[in-house]
Amino acid sequence: MVFPKGFLWGGATAANQFEGGYNADGKGLAVTDLRTAGNVNTPRRFTPTIEPNTYYPSHKAIDFYHQYQSDIKLFGEMGFNVFRMSIAWSRIFPIGDELEPNEAGLKFYDDVIDELIANGMTPLITLSHFELPMGIVEKYNGFADRRVIDLFVRYAETVMTRYQSKVKYWLTFNEMNFGAMDHGELAVLGMNPSDEVIYPNGAKTNERVRFQALHNALVASAKVVKLGHQINPDFMIGCMICHITSYPLTPKPEDVLKWKEFDLSFTKFVGDVQVRGEYPSYMSTYLKNKGIFPIFESSDAEILKAGKVDMYTFSYYMTVCISTDEQADQTSGNLMGGKANPYLKANDWGWQVDPIGLEYTLIDLQDRYDLPMMVVENGLGFADELKSDGTIDDDYRIDYMRDHIKAMDSAIEKGANLIGYTMWGPIDLISAGTGEMKKRYGFIYVDMNDDGSGSLKRYKKKSFDWYRQAIASNGLEL
Ligand code: BG6
Repeated sequence: MVFPKGFLWGGATAANQFEGGYNADGKGLAVTDLRTAGNVNTPRRFTPTIEPNTYYPSHKAIDFYHQYQSDIKLFGEMGFNVFRMSIAWSRIFPIGDELEPNEAGLKFYDDVIDELIANGMTPLITLSHFELPMGIVEKYNGFADRRVIDLFVRYAETVMTRYQSKVKYWLTFNEMNFGAMDHGELAVLGMNPSDEVIYPNGAKTNERVRFQALHNALVASAKVVKLGHQINPDFMIGCMICHITSYPLTPKPEDVLKWKEFDLSFTKFVGDVQVRGEYPSYMSTYLKNKGIFPIFESSDAEILKAGKVDMYTFSYYMTVCISTDEQADQTSGNLMGGKANPYLKANDWGWQVDPIGLEYTLIDLQDRYDLPMMVVENGLGFADELKSDGTIDDDYRIDYMRDHIKAMDSAIEKGANLIGYTMWGPIDLISAGTGEMKKRYGFIYVDMNDDGSGSLKRYKKKSFDWYRQAIASNGLEL
């Protein structure tokens, strides 16, 4: 086994999926506070205001807001030396455009960060994880309005300055490439909330505005990278890409070409800009040909160049195939589906499990960017069963993780500069896709049902000790 000394092992979370306390201590509403629960068959709804008698999972989530000390102790017990979390922007700037931050919100993160450090973890902080303040959505239509660039910079400057001596690792936007898709507009860019309702019917209306908003967000991200380096030159600031690794379904040249175009336009485009500081030729041409290339203000090109990221981070759960054959079997997946791979098996939510795909991805990214990398999300969502004796036998999760860790090991052996791994959801939390509790990723079971009922009591699953040992042996004993 080849994991380097000091390799970062831990778990990843997002404020809206596990904190709760949605209006505590002056927090403003975030986009996610208006998203109802759903399930694998029923999409979540976005409601313009909070409806009475409707369950909104983010409001209580798993109550980390009040239980962070004991939860962090459990992470420490597993030996985590890194912990990925997001700061909820609307705790710091409740509406989004205030001049002064909310001190009570900052205080909460002071306490959490101190607790993490006391328990042996270095924090890895995502500045924006699908949870923009509603004030920014309502007043500005999110990043569609250029003024939001400065609001994001003000927020980032506030927290990066406050935590400059405690936090080294930062990510600007979670899965920023999701912003290139119609149904990612609200989550990543904070725009067009009402259109969420019409997307299931196939309406795709905002492409030009969307790519302008995505451009504005890329400029905001680059400004924050540059500013972060001024605040503390030791900061490692990364992009975070939803890496939908894909393969051509067949060797038919038409399939291969379609696959390549998908990979370049969705999976690689945003990371290319953040790593290289300029738009890649394929996407520039595509956008220009469609007449939707974003308007660059005079200094934008320079800002993008000056704000190149220090590391490439990504989420990896599953893979899909791409084909021109409309009739080929479909499979589901993170943010989007694709064609089913006949060589892979899927979980209950239709995500096809593919550890070798992770090795392939790391080799591909090493070759493309040659930057330090972190896998900042990976894991298996499963409907775990809590037995009457309080145990949970999640061998399937152990198998999934063992195979993915081995894949990382092989990639390192082949030259990948992988510096860390934060699996998704070390403690069960709310599913972003469906709003369920039932889709569990954790080593720690939380007694809570899809409707929010339950004791919230925490139980260690079988995988808890397994991961502890994996970390203690630096990936040797799996
Ligand atoms: C990623 C997100 O898309 O996948 C997380 O960054 C999310 O927020 C994770 O939770 C897993 O998806 P889901 O739908 O199973 O929660």
